[in-house]
Amino acid sequence: MNQFIEANRHAWDIRLEAHKNSDFYDVEGWKNGKTSLTDIELHELGDVSGKKLLHLQCHFGQDTLSWARLGAKVTGCDFSTESIAYARQLAHEAGLKARFVCCNVYDLPQHLKGKYDIVFTSFGVIGWLPDLEPWAAVIAHFLKKGGVFYLAEFHPVVWMLDDKMEFIKYAYHNDGVIESEMTGTYADRYADLKYKEYGWNHSLGEVLNALLRHGLQLEFFNEYPYSPFDCFDKTVRGADGNYRIQGLEGKIPMVYSLRAVKR
Ligand SMILES: C[S@@+](CC[C@H](N)C(=O)[O-])C[C@H]1O[C@@H](n2cnc3c(N)ncnc32)[C@H](O)[C@@H]1O
Repeated sequence: MNQFIEANRHAWDIRLEAHKNSDFYDVEGWKNGKTSLTDIELHELGDVSGKKLLHLQCHFGQDTLSWARLGAKVTGCDFSTESIAYARQLAHEAGLKARFVCCNVYDLPQHLKGKYDIVFTSFGVIGWLPDLEPWAAVIAHFLKKGGVFYLAEFHPVVWMLDDKMEFIKYAYHNDGVIESEMTGTYADRYADLKYKEYGWNHSLGEVLNALLRHGLQLEFFNEYPYSPFDCFDKTVRGADGNYRIQGLEGKIPMVYSLRAVKR
């Protein structure tokens, strides 16, 4: 692992405690049966019952286990040892069958065998990856022929804005690593945390071309002018329960999703 990936792994490890106690992740609600999945992926991925589903960058497995509740045979991967330990604990407490693998997503073929009907990943994932070519190779590696890749992600336009959502600070295209000095975390802004993290902005062209180059055929690509999650500054909640940036309501895309099939 290079120094950026290692620093990010540490950042995700120390966030876990705040995340599992946050209203944002509402683990109590989840334990009582609430799904952590949003309407976007629930409607767009459809019936997962009986399907082998691999969840890349699964954090502490809440979404992975939400798919298990819907009948999928799930495996989750994340490089945060704290997150994976808690994912295993949650699966045990909820009485759900799931497998969790702890490794860098790029290294997953060295840690996991088998082919999957679905490879799933969502919301706040690709920005931690410096290069999408090996990411797409991992997706293609694990999909059966005819298997489905599904991604729901924050839109690169949102990542162009500064932290206060006031002006364009970052390039749309991948302009190299972005270092951020962080306090707190998106799930709990006031958590007593201080760390550095490293991210990369990936344009839509970069994402789509990486997938196409690895034999994935696009079925659909959607853009949404809102976020189902309240994880940015200056948000306003709409009557639909979704979040938009104050002053930019309806003007910018905030989320995109895509489904592709392995040829
Ligand atoms: C925002 S979460 C995404 C999952 C889901 N949207 C959620 O909020 O629970 C991002 C996850 O990516 C993981 N991650 C970041 N870089 C990774 C890498 N190189 N390999 C594996 N996991 C990684 C982090 O540990 C974190 O759990």
